[in-house]
Amino acid sequence: MGKTVIVANWKSNMELAEADTWLRKFHDASGKVAFSEKEVIICPPFTVMAFLAEWIKKSGLPISLGAQNLSPFPKGAYTGEVSAEQVSEIASYVLIGHSERRKYFHEDDQMLQNKVDMALASGLQSIFCVQGVEDSIPKGVVHVAYEPVFAIGTGEPDSPENAGSTARSIKETFGVHTVLYGGSVTAANVHSFTSTEDIHGVLVGSASLDPEVFSSIVANA
Ligand code: PGA
Repeated sequence: MGKTVIVANWKSNMELAEADTWLRKFHDASGKVAFSEKEVIICPPFTVMAFLAEWIKKSGLPISLGAQNLSPFPKGAYTGEVSAEQVSEIASYVLIGHSERRKYFHEDDQMLQNKVDMALASGLQSIFCVQGVEDSIPKGVVHVAYEPVFAIGTGEPDSPENAGSTARSIKETFGVHTVLYGGSVTAANVHSFTSTEDIHGVLVGSASLDPEVFSSIVANA
């Protein structure tokens, strides 16, 4: 990830027809984007992942796919779970440790370590989300997203100064390679984060659902 990284987290949004419209509009809107300098990663729900993969292949759109989650277990008798082997067939990245998963699905440090281990064994790159240096980061994590909970979906981002110094502390404490910032990123504020030392990119929730807005975020990053 030497390029500026822009991750879209669609969460539990987007049905097939909406994903189709999103891709068409993003494709049209992003004609002037210098993709050689940007790594764009879309994290859709599993239900539309194969559709996106096919669309990307056909259109040649230079974007990668990431999963929003994966099973902490290997493949087998784990009803309802999607294993790292399955995810790695179709995606290159996976989000692990998002605050919504910690809060609503009670994912603890051991489970997060297991997920990171599964991702590593299947060649998936995990993007591990933390609140700050107080969270532990499992061994094997290379990419981290600093996502303060007060900034997620609130329209109140952290300041670039604080995000930058937290990113630096995370790198120094855990020896990770890449730190992204996430939380109320918009087309207007994205550059203030990506131009900050120690921040390598952004993770975008709500603003990634609009293809034109997301295209501007990618262009401005
Ligand atoms: P937001 O979400 O951009 O809507 O604040 C970010 C995230 O949860 O990853």
